[in-house]
Amino acid sequence: VEVVILPGAGEVAVLAADIIQWALTSKPTSALGLATGSTPLATYMELRSRFLQGRVSFAEATAFLLDEYVGLGADHPQSYGSVIRRELVDHVDLPLSSLFVPDTRGDDLVDACARYEAAIRNAGGIDLQLLGIGTDGHLGFNEPISSLASRTRVKTQGIGTILDARHLLLLATGQAKAAAVTAAIEGPVRALCPASALQLHPHVTVLLDEPAAAELSLGSYYRSTYAHKPPWQRF
Ligand code: GLP
Repeated sequence: VEVVILPGAGEVAVLAADIIQWALTSKPTSALGLATGSTPLATYMELRSRFLQGRVSFAEATAFLLDEYVGLGADHPQSYGSVIRRELVDHVDLPLSSLFVPDTRGDDLVDACARYEAAIRNAGGIDLQLLGIGTDGHLGFNEPISSLASRTRVKTQGIGTILDARHLLLLATGQAKAAAVTAAIEGPVRALCPASALQLHPHVTVLLDEPAAAELSLGSYYRSTYAHKPPWQRF
């Protein structure tokens, strides 16, 4: 796990946007995995501003949302589909037809989950998956004791689905996330901390601000390894 500790949440957003911009520049048809929650909002603001400056384009990209509420209509303002449109998609050039959100409207949600997995496969798999982390170590709606091999189900994308993405980008800011971050990165891999499954993935980048990194036992090691890597080797 590649851990990058930055002074504050603003720097986390800028570097996360750099990584997403780099992914889209090197592969314009990238399939992006997007997350909601408060943590990535600053990253989305940064991407919106770069789009307006002509520095990044989503025109050929595809985006898959990590999770969605069952029971809220797709147009409900609190649905994650509405949130991601409001925070990012409506402000950039990603075609709405290229935004995939788990379908929670039909009667057969089990079938809808299977179709979501198939849509990800048809897009060639997710190239870059953005993630937040819950204070209890959850990823998406994969709460403690979720199977680390789970797939999309009536809940969220599964941990196994998340681990299929080629590059995982986890963002965590604020002291409230410090214990979960430490458990995820330095603790044992166990279903009690779903985010610890990231340790099984070959390419994970974790961007932290200082408060979120405060409980890591190897904090100074992470700071020195990142500082000594030339930019082109960093991600
Ligand atoms: C919710 C979402 C997750 C998100 C998490 C953290 O549980 N389902 O996808 O990562 O909250 O949210 P925040 O970034 O607001 O702390």
